[in-house]
Amino acid sequence: MNEKFQGMMQAELDRLEKEGLSLRIRTLDSEQGPACTIDGKYVVNLAANNYLGIIARKDVKEAAKKAIDEFGVGSGAVKTIIGNTRLIVEGEKKLAKFKEVEDVLMYQGGLTANSGTIPALVHDGDLIFSDELNHASIIDGCRLSKAKIIPFKHCDMASLEEKLKEHQQDPCTKLIITDGVFSMDGDIAPLPGIVELAKKYDAVTMVDDAHGEGVLGDHGRGIVNHFHLEGEVDVEIGTMSKAFGVVGGYAAGTHTLVEYLKNKSRTILFSSTITPADAGAILKVIDILTESDDLVRKLWENAVYFKAKMKAYGFDTWRSETPITPIIIGDGQLAKNLSARLFEKGVFAQSLGFPTVPKGLARIRCMLCSTHTKEQLDFAADMFHESALELGILKS
Ligand SMILES: Cc1ncc(COP(=O)(O)O)c(C=O)c1O
Repeated sequence: MNEKFQGMMQAELDRLEKEGLSLRIRTLDSEQGPACTIDGKYVVNLAANNYLGIIARKDVKEAAKKAIDEFGVGSGAVKTIIGNTRLIVEGEKKLAKFKEVEDVLMYQGGLTANSGTIPALVHDGDLIFSDELNHASIIDGCRLSKAKIIPFKHCDMASLEEKLKEHQQDPCTKLIITDGVFSMDGDIAPLPGIVELAKKYDAVTMVDDAHGEGVLGDHGRGIVNHFHLEGEVDVEIGTMSKAFGVVGGYAAGTHTLVEYLKNKSRTILFSSTITPADAGAILKVIDILTESDDLVRKLWENAVYFKAKMKAYGFDTWRSETPITPIIIGDGQLAKNLSARLFEKGVFAQSLGFPTVPKGLARIRCMLCSTHTKEQLDFAADMFHESALELGILKS
């Protein structure tokens, strides 16, 4: 054991603790639903990305069990060796049809989709134009690529155009990357503006639809469908770990893109595929979404209802346009205290502070789900109000 190194890590942990930045990781003791048991306490759950309540669905569990019975528990290898189960191939085809793209390539998650795709597409000498609030997995993918990263102001098309113009004469590949729905703020990227600028400046477009999948567009087809931009976006990245309630990720686009990524993407080449249970469950979720948009409609109904209630209580929901509902508190410690107080009262909603969000904009992020009942949402909003009055965040 290297004692000096252990001491360095401990010193950093002490600093985080002193500055109120250390993480408290809770443990889920039950199946995840709109209410569940966390650290032994039954609470209304406002923290999950399980937008459509899929995690606890009997038919999806059955599909996963059937897949295990047929294919076993693991995939045993990377896609290009023997990890490419028939379930994954069917999932890719079905997802491509659902998303109205030529082809899809399944990854192990959204993070590996980003970190595998971006470095395959751009290299040293190329340029990446990246929204300043893009998700960490996009940022990591960009860094791995060794291309030059040029951030543009959040959702600001004038800022993007200014940067593109500066590099208009550069002959390299130019990739514009944006989150579809921004995970901390819940706002939607101006994708039509991005596509227009990409055409004007001969750039390639990529959108990470992690929080738009199952949420935006007809039957939850995502941001491209939402803006009617089918065939206009070069690369769509997504995850099956949020609204789909399973685990996995994907890149979607043309056959050429998918064939290229199969050959060039390091997280495809050097990491095993999703398990049969994941693939079986994903197939079932696509069927559920294709057949009905009830879950998506219910999700939005709940989101609109909760947001209106919180606003009426005087809370600031920032620039949210989607079921991701940040409640801005400002001070990091105060946001943590509010989250702890809510937990005592039977509501779990995660506080987020610096560096996850900018200094002074600490918040509690409320994640809505189609399976929340009105009673659960009323209870949660009331507990927010009561706790915020107690902590002096709101005045009576
Ligand atoms: C925008 C975005 N992209 C990618 C990911 C990573 O997805 P996964 O959990 O499937 O790795 C997340 C998850 O937080 C996300 O919010």
